[in-house]
Amino acid sequence: MLEPARRSQYLQALGIDEWTRRVQPAATITETAPIAEEWTSLQQSVAACQRCGLQACRTQTVFGVGDRHAEWMVVGEAPGAEEDAKGEPFVGAAGQLLNAMLAAIGLARESVFIANILKCRPPGNRDPSPAEIAECLPYLHQQIRQVRPRLILAFGRVAAQSLLGTDKPLGSLRGSVHAAPPLNTPVVVTYHPAYLLRTPAEKRKAWEDLKYARRIHAELR
Ligand code: URA
Repeated sequence: MLEPARRSQYLQALGIDEWTRRVQPAATITETAPIAEEWTSLQQSVAACQRCGLQACRTQTVFGVGDRHAEWMVVGEAPGAEEDAKGEPFVGAAGQLLNAMLAAIGLARESVFIANILKCRPPGNRDPSPAEIAECLPYLHQQIRQVRPRLILAFGRVAAQSLLGTDKPLGSLRGSVHAAPPLNTPVVVTYHPAYLLRTPAEKRKAWEDLKYARRIHAELR
């Protein structure tokens, strides 16, 4: 659970003056050897991947971070320069806002699993190409199979469209629950934190999405 003193800071970052505490049950799952082996081999496959050509300009792959048994999975677009350097998703400015958005619905960063559609940084932070997405998506599907989250939060157009296999605009995907392959996992869509940093007026809508996701997650119990 987050320190009370830090909550107002997070909510301020989101432009929110509302707060409802969510009780996070402690995880009590015991690791089993076969899952650990599968996860490790998936990590090794990603680290060695040369499927789409982005290996030529990466420092390292960015597999994902967090609780492997999380009820919530967060999916972004692709690593940026800071993520490529550190090997961890969402560690730059957008990551700070992502942490605040999660905190606003009672989720500590460590309690969710955070991954991207692409495991490598596209040069110059350009959008991922359809071919890169097609090559990389099986890794995310494998992560979804192994984490088995109750709910996926898709941040931004690329994450939402890639997860759902649609070209519908982000605005039309907000406000309802979708089902994502490979397990028909419920997905709620919201704005990417990098977009919100550029367009703070939209933070209010993102807060609506987060409250909606929290409600859906509770209903899925
Ligand atoms: N933006 C993303 O979509 N993912 C990251 O990991 C960092 C920035």
